[in-house]
Amino acid sequence: MVDNGDTNYTRPEVVVYERSKTLYKHGDFEEAIKISEEALENLSEFMYDRDIWLKRIIALANCRLKNYKISIKYFKEVLETKNECYIQREIANVYNNLNEIDLALKYSAESALNPTLNSIDQKIKTYALLERLLFKKGLKVKAKLHAELIYQIRKNDKRNIDEEEIERLKNLNIDTNKNIAHETLEKKLKQFWKLLSLKPHYSSIESIIRKVYDDFYEYNEFNIPCDLKDFTFKQNVPNYEKKSVQQFYLLKYMYSYAFEYMTMFKKILNQREFGNNIRITSFGCGNMIDYWALIRALEENDKKEISINYTGVDSIDWNYKPKARENDTINFKHIDVKKYLNEEKYLDSEIFIFPKSLGEFSGDIEHFCKNFKEKIKDNTNIYVLISYIKQDESNNKEFYNDLSDKIKDAITENKYDFVDEKVNEGNKRHIEKYFNEKYPNKIKDYLMHFKSNCKCLYKENEKCKLEYTHPQITQKYIQYKIMSFNKK
Ligand SMILES: C[S@@+](CC[C@H](N)C(=O)[O-])C[C@H]1O[C@@H](n2cnc3c(N)ncnc32)[C@H](O)[C@@H]1O
Repeated sequence: MVDNGDTNYTRPEVVVYERSKTLYKHGDFEEAIKISEEALENLSEFMYDRDIWLKRIIALANCRLKNYKISIKYFKEVLETKNECYIQREIANVYNNLNEIDLALKYSAESALNPTLNSIDQKIKTYALLERLLFKKGLKVKAKLHAELIYQIRKNDKRNIDEEEIERLKNLNIDTNKNIAHETLEKKLKQFWKLLSLKPHYSSIESIIRKVYDDFYEYNEFNIPCDLKDFTFKQNVPNYEKKSVQQFYLLKYMYSYAFEYMTMFKKILNQREFGNNIRITSFGCGNMIDYWALIRALEENDKKEISINYTGVDSIDWNYKPKARENDTINFKHIDVKKYLNEEKYLDSEIFIFPKSLGEFSGDIEHFCKNFKEKIKDNTNIYVLISYIKQDESNNKEFYNDLSDKIKDAITENKYDFVDEKVNEGNKRHIEKYFNEKYPNKIKDYLMHFKSNCKCLYKENEKCKLEYTHPQITQKYIQYKIMSFNKK
């Protein structure tokens, strides 16, 4: 237990702190919590941060009592004042108990990067936790690197390493005769820790995909014929009202779209400084994966402190929206875009995005442009991001260029000058190489064989319009345009 500062046993908070420590050591966790909470409530003055240390006892004791959520709440309060590697490790341990492995990894990586991680003992504890978590997550190569790092640190410090441990390392194919400077291994892992520490407090794409898959799998076990027989973008659009249509759509496209939107946002974040808040409107937002992508882009550009004011407009209230960050404001407008533009007094965003949606309201484009130019507020610069649905062989570029030209003309008619546009038309490279998110193999296989395994009656008589079921995992279908404008 940490104790900073002088110990003056006559001060009431010192008396409570010492007693609370003793109770904790003797396993009387309830009593330790009780007296610590009472002190925090009743005492007005705490010297040497004793209030913080009392909170840590409450956090530790709640963890021992398996009250993990309360424990995390207190640990996070402690971390606000005491940015110490061991507090981050303690939080990681609690998340591990909750089986929230991504969050456990995030905090243990933060611990590994924390400048207070100086001593050999602290290093071994943090790296060992990372090793355990990485094995649990199935990232064996990275886990082994941590095992090797710990081994080299202990060997270099002439610590005893028993036979059993040597045997374990050999089974992991680690060469125990080799001498590697641990600084070299630490340097090698630093970038990986940075990526892990970015792991968000909100869902990862992988975790959303897994959740969608669980529901989709269950649905397909019991619903024959299924709602997917009409799933096509050819003459009409899929009926997104149906939950199973949303599920199939997300399993097939979300991974690629999240990557595409993130790439677009990263481009504009590199081009321009935004203040401490970004205002964005998404027309046809679906499950708001563009909001998720913006957060990821901010994180990867070292700007995660910028908050987001996001307005998503969609006539359908999709399931599987990502969790919002604490300081962000999310407005979901469950309304037709046309009606939204009629009712809204003005549009006060600096980014307007059409995430694979513009084609779907192309019939109303004249009305859209008229309202857009009238209601758009004066901002120094604005960006319009259009992501197109790209179909296999058909070249729909002209159709989209025509729509984007109409929007450009409307914006430049009185308030703004057109600055430039950036276009991306995809390539065959695998997304996984450039994205810190994985598409789970099991789900990929399931989708690939979805039609041949399907028990649906429509399969035989060719009434099923569902075509390629494989998920989009290359950049082949990426097609977007970023237009930027400055105030006249
Ligand atoms: C292809 S989906 C794209 C969804 C999501 N943005 C994404 O990236 O996955 C098109 C979305 O536009 C919405 N949409 C189409 N026409 C609309 C309209 N007139 N008003 C509001 N939303 C509309 C649909 O409900 C659907 O959610």
